[in-house]
Amino acid sequence: MDKILIRGGIPLQGTVEISGAKNATLPTLAAALLTDEPLRLTHVPHLRDVTTMLELLGQHGANITVDEQLGVEIACTQISNTLAPYDLVRTMRASVLVMGPLVARCGDARISLPGGCAIGSRPVNLHLAGLEAMGAEVQLTSGYIHAKAKRLHGARIVLDLVTVTGTENLMMAATLADGRTILENAACEPEVTDLALCLNSMGACIRGAGTSTIVIDGVERLHGTRHDILPDRIETATFLMAAAMTRGDITLTNTSPTLLESPIAKLRQTGVIIEEQANSLRIYPKPDSRLRAVNIKTCPYPGFPTDLQAQMMALVSVAEGSGAITETIFENRFMHVSELQRLGADISLQGNTALVRGVPKLHGAPVMATDLRASASLVLAGLAAEGETLISRVYHIDRGYERIEEKLMALGANIQRLS
Ligand code: EPZ
Repeated sequence: MDKILIRGGIPLQGTVEISGAKNATLPTLAAALLTDEPLRLTHVPHLRDVTTMLELLGQHGANITVDEQLGVEIACTQISNTLAPYDLVRTMRASVLVMGPLVARCGDARISLPGGCAIGSRPVNLHLAGLEAMGAEVQLTSGYIHAKAKRLHGARIVLDLVTVTGTENLMMAATLADGRTILENAACEPEVTDLALCLNSMGACIRGAGTSTIVIDGVERLHGTRHDILPDRIETATFLMAAAMTRGDITLTNTSPTLLESPIAKLRQTGVIIEEQANSLRIYPKPDSRLRAVNIKTCPYPGFPTDLQAQMMALVSVAEGSGAITETIFENRFMHVSELQRLGADISLQGNTALVRGVPKLHGAPVMATDLRASASLVLAGLAAEGETLISRVYHIDRGYERIEEKLMALGANIQRLS
């Protein structure tokens, strides 16, 4: 298993290009199932989760081509198989995103129950309740969801919780339903909006994406299109934090500040300077000043994203003062705490809040990645720490960050992958 070795203490300098968003790519790939015409996606990040989704679509009968610019074309001319098997779904929960499209296109979907993961039990009850409201018959047998419907019909669905993939699954299912579907308390994440943009360019009739009420008028069929995946706001903020923690000066291109207003505002509170352009950002330190600790509470968009909680905890660990970090979305998203403590961080847990007292320096040590964003926080901590940090189980980080050690090396970090 690969490891990443970091020798910390080097201020990052230079320019980094941000990749397409993983959490926009996954639902948009699943949307290819809704039409028998080719869907062509550009700015697709090369990630393990994307490869897994392509493998799953291939099992459904999709023809997939990847060009030299890593553009992806998916053609689901025929769907030969509506099964999403356990061995694939257990490696990537977002596989559940094929459920809505399969029921809408074929009237049938057999999806392995995604099961939990390191950060929580991650149920999909709201996805299933929404499909049932649209007329699907849903049965759970031997660890599989079996959802079927002659043709889904429109419904008004009030989601008990804000669920990103739940909103995406139901929005996709509703595009081919008979009549109007209204999703209330829908997720407002930019990735939901990007998916709606793609679906509408395929001929869907969706209004209100990006707000908590989305209205979808079903149509008879969808056609192919070309769509450019939006920039990854989580990768963008992760690199901003890497620069802040190493007192570096970096420019991030191919990204959009409007996607991460809350993280940028929080980072400015720590005392760094962030300059915004339409498609780029520059971050650098105030002279003669240490980072200041801040308080964080994760919320659905446009609040502070849960996917940046671990990374921000690493930053507060080396800031001046103390910060309270409260996780409100997932029940077990503090797996990085014990690993950060191994690097010298002063963190105490009280329920879903971590009290972080900033220390002058972290010190390198061997640590273990436990989930995608926790591994990112360990990379950041290693970049800031004195000495060597060796991170094991880096397959977690490969799920969501494209070539992270190459990008950091290009910014001057002393980082290498050990196979
Ligand atoms: C998406 O996961 C993202 N993944 C996650 O990113 C992200 O952390 C999460 O949204 C929250 O922003 C993708 O988009 C592929 P939820 P998702 O449904 O949709 C509960 C990463 O690091 N819930 O919004 O699975 C759930 O348990 C990943 O890139 C139900 O109870 O998350 C959680 O507490 C990690 N029943 C809360 O809602 C349901 O049916 C929000 O979960 C669905 C969700």
